[in-house]
Amino acid sequence: MPRQLFVTTALPYANAGFHIGHIMEYTQADTWVRFQRMAGHEVHFVCADDAHGAPIMISAEKAGKTPQEFVAGIAAGRKQYLDGFHISFDNWHSTDGPENHELSKAVYLSLRHNELISTKTIEQFFDPAKSMFLPDRFIKGECPKCGAKDQYGDSCEVCGAVYAPTELKNPYSVLSGATPVLKSSEHYFFKLSDPRCVDFLTEWTQTPGRLQPEVLNKIREWFETDEDGNNKLSDWDISRDAPYFGIEIPDAPGKYFYVWLDAPIGYLASLKNYFAKTDRDFDAFVNDPATEQIHFIGKDITYFHTLFWPAMLHFSGRKTPNHVFVHGFMTVNGGEKMSKSRGTGLDPLKYLSLGLNAEWLRYYIAAKLNARVEDIDFNPEDFAARINSDLVGKYINIASRAAGFLTKRFDGRLSADLGVEGRALLDALRAQRGAIAELYETREFGKALRETMALADKVNEFVDAHKPWELAKQEGMDAALHDVCSVCIEAFRLLTIYLKPVLPALAAQVEAFLKVEPLQWSDSARALGAHQIGAYQHLMQRVDVAKVEQLFEAPAAPKVVPGGEDIAPEIKIDDFAKVDLRIAKIVKAELVEGSDKLLRLTLDAGEGRTRNVFSGIRSAYKPEDLEGKLTVLVANLAPRKMKFGISEGMVLAASHADEKSTPGIFVLEPHDGAQPGMRVR
Ligand code: 2FM
Ligand code: ZN
Repeated sequence: MPRQLFVTTALPYANAGFHIGHIMEYTQADTWVRFQRMAGHEVHFVCADDAHGAPIMISAEKAGKTPQEFVAGIAAGRKQYLDGFHISFDNWHSTDGPENHELSKAVYLSLRHNELISTKTIEQFFDPAKSMFLPDRFIKGECPKCGAKDQYGDSCEVCGAVYAPTELKNPYSVLSGATPVLKSSEHYFFKLSDPRCVDFLTEWTQTPGRLQPEVLNKIREWFETDEDGNNKLSDWDISRDAPYFGIEIPDAPGKYFYVWLDAPIGYLASLKNYFAKTDRDFDAFVNDPATEQIHFIGKDITYFHTLFWPAMLHFSGRKTPNHVFVHGFMTVNGGEKMSKSRGTGLDPLKYLSLGLNAEWLRYYIAAKLNARVEDIDFNPEDFAARINSDLVGKYINIASRAAGFLTKRFDGRLSADLGVEGRALLDALRAQRGAIAELYETREFGKALRETMALADKVNEFVDAHKPWELAKQEGMDAALHDVCSVCIEAFRLLTIYLKPVLPALAAQVEAFLKVEPLQWSDSARALGAHQIGAYQHLMQRVDVAKVEQLFEAPAAPKVVPGGEDIAPEIKIDDFAKVDLRIAKIVKAELVEGSDKLLRLTLDAGEGRTRNVFSGIRSAYKPEDLEGKLTVLVANLAPRKMKFGISEGMVLAASHADEKSTPGIFVLEPHDGAQPGMRVR
């Protein structure tokens, strides 16, 4: 019976591109999803941008955009990563879409109807300059424990202390620098401490097989009762005051849902959006007891997904998730914290732009993943070794050793006989189909790949024992050569099926080479028979470690040029285009009375009028040396009022940082032929 699967990954905040942690999670979920699709199940794999919240609102403001424009810009950048790493979401949506506004309000109203919403007035830090309440991360001050300066409002990075923002000494707003003031306001709470919630969550979390054992242990800690015998689950503050980018709370003007309320509802919203586009019945599907709802997430957001989220769903009369699959973090080079400036991170786009194969990374990630909540580490040597020895050395090698003989000697037609040993080998490969499927099903991808590579080892032993390159030279060994090479190709096809969830693009190339339909898991139970294959073209390169190491080279530091001045921070071409440079003729040059630095230049920039520009070049030029010459003018510089008159632009000149040092100042002059008014670009 085909299963009905609704699968998600965590919705990424729409404030930046993806980091390697996102790609790791997407690779894990995508591999699982591709396996399910190959096994013939119905899968709907969706994601969305997590658009709301104060940090995004503030980033948008800094970028001079509305939050909507800002998140749209981020969303537009998603495709290059998803396509680049072969992540096969069926839909990508936004938590700011109309579906989410509607669903979030509906969920909230059901919770309210069930008397699980309460209100309470609380005091919080408020930025008087910005007129807004400050999220913890936007308040800094001195650590109340160790006195370290510039610590965030929730914890100290120096001594590790955890505290409330109100405990900081000399607090200030990160946004305005102003001293925050305490202000009270009414907040809305989801009553997680209600006995109904506690009872439901106890049962839901403990349901056998639903959550990983380590996750369950963590949840037990959260459930422990305190010294007074009170349950530790506390009510959850779900409201934020305007200004806030989010969804307005019904009947509560000026109050918005905290981003973490509407974010997971975004899973449903994305599915709803997708079902509308593909003409499916969303309500029927999500309410169908046969539908399995599965969320892949990182360990840091377990609380939200195993307590708040199932409770929100249950008490609004909806089906709860069947599983929440939690993974660890991805570290790089032995667990160094990722830092862009130190260049220790693994930037996914840089990876692609260096021409590194996306499937190498998918393979590497999958090879390290298991069903537990463990961190995995990326290491360049280990990476190169795994790809080169396993993927290329063991697997690709099988096809490249056999395909040439088949095309040259047998017109690409496989032997149907294969010989006793060959048939036994292939039977051994097929016998693992159930076991490998089970490993994919249980997210033991590392084991699935190890099993597959062990099978590839067997195939290579078979090749080494039968030496097709020698058979090819011997008289009368055609049939043996044909069988051996055909066994290799059939084995290669089976191995490709076992690897396809991890290596979809490579599998597509193999399908084209073998001239077969897209491989399904069931194809591993059958044999190709006397099938004709196409010409072999090399399928995968080996990894060059030096190239991988380039990934971690810190971005080129600004170069120091002779004269001691650093190159200015990088700009975009658009930034440069803002400067309008024009060729101008120096019609007249005069000394300026009262100034030993300036010359007054009268310039003709082809505008049908002249401009007056003061230039600090008197130490280097006599007026008569300049008259009649061409130079370069910054033509759109705002006019500047000076002691001697208005300066309408600036001429370009070269010098060291210290203009007085030798060799001095040099006015720019174009090559012959340039004319006043021409733009310099
Ligand atoms: O931690 C994060 O990146 C959140 N944006 C994840 C949200 S997952 C879901 F709830 F939307
Ligand atoms: Zn401290």
